[in-house]
Amino acid sequence: MTSPKLDVDRLLLQPKTTIIVCCGSGGVGKTTTAASLGVRAAEHGRRVCVLTIDPARRLAQSLGLEELDNSPREIDGVGREGGALFAMMLDMKRTFDEIVQQHADADRAAQILENPFYQSMSSSFAGTQEYMAMEKLGQLHQEALETGHWDLVIVDTPPSRSALDFLDAPARLGSFLDGRLIRFLLAPARAGGKAYMKVFGGAFSLVTGALNRVLGAQLLNDIQTLVAGLDSVFGGFRERAERTYALLQDPGTAFVVVAAPEPDALREASFFVERLQRDEMPLAGLVLNRVHSTEAKDVSAARAEGAAEELDELGEHALTAALLRLHSDTMRRRDREHHLLGRFSGAHPSVAVATAPALAGDVHDVHGLQVMGDALAGA
Ligand SMILES: Nc1ncnc2c1ncn2[C@@H]1O[C@H](COP(=O)(O)OP(=O)(O)OP(=O)(O)O)[C@@H](O)[C@H]1O
Ligand SMILES: [Mg+2]
Repeated sequence: MTSPKLDVDRLLLQPKTTIIVCCGSGGVGKTTTAASLGVRAAEHGRRVCVLTIDPARRLAQSLGLEELDNSPREIDGVGREGGALFAMMLDMKRTFDEIVQQHADADRAAQILENPFYQSMSSSFAGTQEYMAMEKLGQLHQEALETGHWDLVIVDTPPSRSALDFLDAPARLGSFLDGRLIRFLLAPARAGGKAYMKVFGGAFSLVTGALNRVLGAQLLNDIQTLVAGLDSVFGGFRERAERTYALLQDPGTAFVVVAAPEPDALREASFFVERLQRDEMPLAGLVLNRVHSTEAKDVSAARAEGAAEELDELGEHALTAALLRLHSDTMRRRDREHHLLGRFSGAHPSVAVATAPALAGDVHDVHGLQVMGDALAGA
């Protein structure tokens, strides 16, 4: 089973593409792929903004992203033919703070920002990073429409075990903040204590009594005031998440699923592809990253191994024997990778694929990104 080829240049260069989302499980090369696509698009005349999330330090340095200033900076010397590259690193807490500041008056914002529960939620609540990445994507897209500084936004997604977290976490955070427990905590403030108690009788005090014991009165009070504050600030987290979700379903959006040629990563990619289809989100294709290959494809693993054994028996040419074994390993790996991709393509015959080779070192500068971009485009 061979997959259709993902035409990376077509994807990058058609003006219709305004958002590209690079998803995939942890460590497969999402950040590297997002940055490579950004460099390539900018060198072919597009004005691109790349949103990276926790890039490796050396990559961040070479892109001039050492400061987390939460807004895109232009990278010198990258764009050609009228193209330009802007890049930024997501500062999750700051993005959250900014939303609060934008939507609340100064006093209320200050109250929320100082709340101890807010402090931990904005920097560590599961799903916050995904939510803020989506939020930032929405902002950058809006900025594109308003300022014309860029016309393509490429987003990297947070490191998580499952690629699906990117799609699920915002709704999960939204439903946590909109959810039943929170409604319950909020209810006295809304209904005006007494009226509420009349309707629900002792149930509320029973629950708050229990929470009080577990959390302590002060903490519970902090949570209640925070949630009341956030609720008025956001006017419904869930609605907000739903709006960004709609942006992801726009025909101008393209998802690129990144995977390493390994069983776990490809299984995750499969789940993700199915989910995108179910949610009617536009999938551009799969990037299979860190693929192994060799120039000496005609020498099979078995033949190389056999020759190495013969040399061993002769007690000569130890170095040649070692190289033959290396070749044999590479061939086995290559065959295994082919087999895994074949299985993926069998299950998803219409999903287009682009591959990038496993490069000798890390990809940590613009040159490395160019090499990777060339490979992805099959150039
Ligand atoms: N084709 C490649 N050849 C060699 N090294 C690569 C290749 N692709 C990525 N790398 C390296 O692998 C490491 C992980 O890549 P990257 O940070 O892009 O993965 P990620 O999916 O963003 O990870 P995380 O889930 O942690 O965010 C980096 O050091 C990167 O330089
Ligand atoms: Mg990353």
